Amino acid sequence: MDPSSQEQPKKRDGFTSNLGVLAATLGSAVGLGNIWKFPSLTGMNGGAAFLIVYLASTLLVGLPAMIAELTLGRAARANAVDAMVKLNPDKRKPWWLVAAAGVLAAFLIMAFYTEVAAWVFAYIFKSIGGGILSTDPAVTSKAFTDLITNPLQSLVWQWVVLAMITVIIIKGVSKGIERTTRRLMPILFFILIAICIRSLTLPGASQGLAFLFKPDFSKITAPVLLTAVGLSFFKLSTGMGTMITYGSYFREDQNIAGTAARVMLADLLVSILAGIAIFPAVFAFGFQPDAGPSLLFITIPSVFASMPFGGVFMVLFFILAAIAATGAMLSLLEVPVAFLEERFKVSRSRATISVSVLLALFGATAALSNSTLANVSIMGKNFFDLYDFISSNLLLPLGGMFITIFVGWVWGFGKVHETLSNNGTLSTRSVNKALFFIIRFVTPVLLFVVLLSGLKIINF
Ligand code: PHE
Repeated sequence: MDPSSQEQPKKRDGFTSNLGVLAATLGSAVGLGNIWKFPSLTGMNGGAAFLIVYLASTLLVGLPAMIAELTLGRAARANAVDAMVKLNPDKRKPWWLVAAAGVLAAFLIMAFYTEVAAWVFAYIFKSIGGGILSTDPAVTSKAFTDLITNPLQSLVWQWVVLAMITVIIIKGVSKGIERTTRRLMPILFFILIAICIRSLTLPGASQGLAFLFKPDFSKITAPVLLTAVGLSFFKLSTGMGTMITYGSYFREDQNIAGTAARVMLADLLVSILAGIAIFPAVFAFGFQPDAGPSLLFITIPSVFASMPFGGVFMVLFFILAAIAATGAMLSLLEVPVAFLEERFKVSRSRATISVSVLLALFGATAALSNSTLANVSIMGKNFFDLYDFISSNLLLPLGGMFITIFVGWVWGFGKVHETLSNNGTLSTRSVNKALFFIIRFVTPVLLFVVLLSGLKIINF
């Protein structure tokens, strides 16, 4: 195919600089997953041993899937669904369905992710007010329960968050997403490092570091391995078309694999720094490290209340979490918006507002799942947990599996190499060969196992 026919149409928006690409893509990867999911999972599953397993699964699953998606996006220069339509050599086979499932997954993740983000944003203001600053976990626990069981507060905060993301997305890819993440990512690192220094200089900090970094290989069991694979996948925002969409905004001379590797490393750094920010402090004040989801909203406020200048650091901590959540939400909303805008030729603001209004209504079921709708249970889950389960356990591994199968078995090495080497300008043939081998044989198989175990079809 004539490569010039793949050139970006003149008016299509995209990222304007290498740094912008990095900020936006990293902004998508870094999210609430780094701030509490990674530290708490690492803490519970063998510390450094889990870290090693997580790294291996990132290299074998997360990163290859991410590169596969970015490659598709850049080659097609279209939203996720149209990219699959465009690149599919056999039009009778409905590969576009994979991307359509991705658009649905993005929508479902947004429905509950905006609610967790809503709590984070609410906590910035609550910590400024000082109401949740108590060394007694019973007090912080009550404050959290009060928030999530209050229908009005849950709903209003979710809609505030959604409105903010909507405004940024309407501004477009370069003026909205790129500009925002370029400003926010440095602030994120700055705050994170400040909190790490605070945490590390507390008396008794070393115990927390030992907890995080001392390997305990006995804790590495088959379910833990699968948790690591799932996390590496979710962390790099793969499996649902986010990276296809972002890849379509990459510049023509962007080194896709190199950018993905950088994002992966920086994302890992954020996760490890989050662990260093949290665990020394948790141990220094005698709190339990394995509180799971409530760590962020119940343990953390008590930990900060125990330390000098804790009030200030707590505000900073929730600003950090809010920034992390923002970049991730921008990339999630962009998937259905880009699809609507391009497929149905509607204006960007109309596409964004339509998706956001739908999300506000649909997401309300997640926001109200601990209050008004607390009694509704589907498959033993409330709406919030249901959306999380369907997207994380079903749609993401399924999407990732089919996308890598498409790239590895249908699209083929020639096209992958052409795109990854920027039409031969980068001499990365052997790297691309190794990568293609992993995309073809390793990633889909591992994702298939994750899928079966997530659905409890196989048990270890
Ligand atoms: N990577 C984000 C996080 O770690 C979550 C995410 C998943 C964002 C899928 C976009 C798409 O929180």
